[in-house]
Amino acid sequence: MVKICCIGAGYVGGPTMAMIAFKCPDIQVVVVDISAPRINAWNSDRLPIFEPGLDDVVRSCRNNNLFFSTDVESHVADADIIFVSVNTPTKTRGLGAGKAADLTYWESAARMIAEVAKSDKIVVEKSTVPVKTAEAIEKILTHNSRGINFQILSNPEFLAEGTAIDDLANPDRVLIGGRETPEGQKAVAALKDVYAHWVPEDRIITMNLWSAELSKLAANAILAQRISSINAMSALCEATGADVSEVAYAVGKDSRIGHKFLNASVGFGGSCFQKDILNLVYICECNGLIEVANYWKQVVQINDYQKARFVNRVVSSMFNTVSGKKIAILGFAFKKDTGDTRETPAIDVCQGLLGDKAQLCIYDPQVTEEQIRRDLVTSKFDWDHPQHLVVPPGSPTSNKNDTVRVTGDAYEAAKGAHGICIMTEWEEFKLLDYERIYQGMEKPAFVFDGRNVVKPEELRKIGFIVYSVGKPLDPWMKDLPAAPST
Ligand code: NAI
Repeated sequence: MVKICCIGAGYVGGPTMAMIAFKCPDIQVVVVDISAPRINAWNSDRLPIFEPGLDDVVRSCRNNNLFFSTDVESHVADADIIFVSVNTPTKTRGLGAGKAADLTYWESAARMIAEVAKSDKIVVEKSTVPVKTAEAIEKILTHNSRGINFQILSNPEFLAEGTAIDDLANPDRVLIGGRETPEGQKAVAALKDVYAHWVPEDRIITMNLWSAELSKLAANAILAQRISSINAMSALCEATGADVSEVAYAVGKDSRIGHKFLNASVGFGGSCFQKDILNLVYICECNGLIEVANYWKQVVQINDYQKARFVNRVVSSMFNTVSGKKIAILGFAFKKDTGDTRETPAIDVCQGLLGDKAQLCIYDPQVTEEQIRRDLVTSKFDWDHPQHLVVPPGSPTSNKNDTVRVTGDAYEAAKGAHGICIMTEWEEFKLLDYERIYQGMEKPAFVFDGRNVVKPEELRKIGFIVYSVGKPLDPWMKDLPAAPST
């Protein structure tokens, strides 16, 4: 029986390995992590991440051929194929801080593999890493190998949170990069055999290591670029009276462009897009490609601009001050169908409004109060460096009688509020009884829809003043000076 061990039981490691175990009953899969709470949760009825369909997949193979353990070293020693799916955050200090990928977690995993391995291993990069990481990993492994042969493969993951199970079951493609030597090609074939259990052969693409590593960064950069492109258009739509949904529809009808990923919003979030683009920018700069670096940097800058523009719109619409005003924040996750809040635009918007002394009441169906409070006091990029994830005692949002309340009910959040900001496109926000919400709010009552989930005209009929990203402005806002750019 082939034995697989995956280091890192996070959003990628957990679902990916569950799918391999589910589709390959002849393979034993163990997912290991240094975080005991995370492993305990994977072994419990309440999994550490919310992902539609994941519970069923895990339940059907857990303790048959799928195991979760903190006994990292013995399972690594035992495995034939080791996936490394640890976090690769943006560096917060030192050379390349704020851009380069921090490979601390990856390097410590590689050193541990070298230390405990007693037989030949295939080591698979599942984490998103800078181009040429495989070379560095290879050096760490071979310089500590004691005669053991390690083959490094790049097998970047393309799943999207919220649709991870569908994406894993029916991937557009699986990428495997390996060395062009006979041993490298043998390792590629071994990993291909795993995916061939359920992925059609023409969707399993093999290539050289550097192409595979770069393809993941390129894919995320181009996806994020589409969002920033339509968001940039949304600002122009608001200025001219065009409707960004109509523009996106017309543009997307061109089969060369297509309709996906053209929804204007308050901005993209998630753990990957910004981190991977900054990483790409850093790699370009290191290679002297300054114009290329600046081109990609702009994708992140437009995203920051979009979030700042949203906050400015809220404040300027509400008589240029939200000081002491209750504002309901509906949704905190970075997108629907996930509880993940990493780099969610809701953090920037909340921090912007708190900076103007607003009183926030936050509701999200999947995000805990503890997570929200932690996010609001964590500095940029620190969220993915676990040692920093502690709410500093006495911090302004760490006690209950402060400017942030978290509630389990959207109506409660909106009660007595001056405005509502919709930050996540949860389906339930489309179905709320806005008439009832309006009755309970201060007047004039505002809705700022950062995800274009409500129908502005219907809400205006109720009496709301409505802002929807990229849509023709409410007459109320037309008379106001344009929101400053940043
Ligand atoms: P995560 O933070 O959810 O999971 C990483 C896990 O690795 C954590 O549970 C951590 O405790 C564990 N870990 C760190 N160092 C370890 C070590 N030395 N030994 C054992 N466990 C260790 O991260 P996530 O979201 O799963 O991402 C992992 C990688 O996959 C990143 O490089 C990310 O860029 C990439 N990726 C993420 C996607 C996503 O949607 N989240 C999609 C595609 C790729």
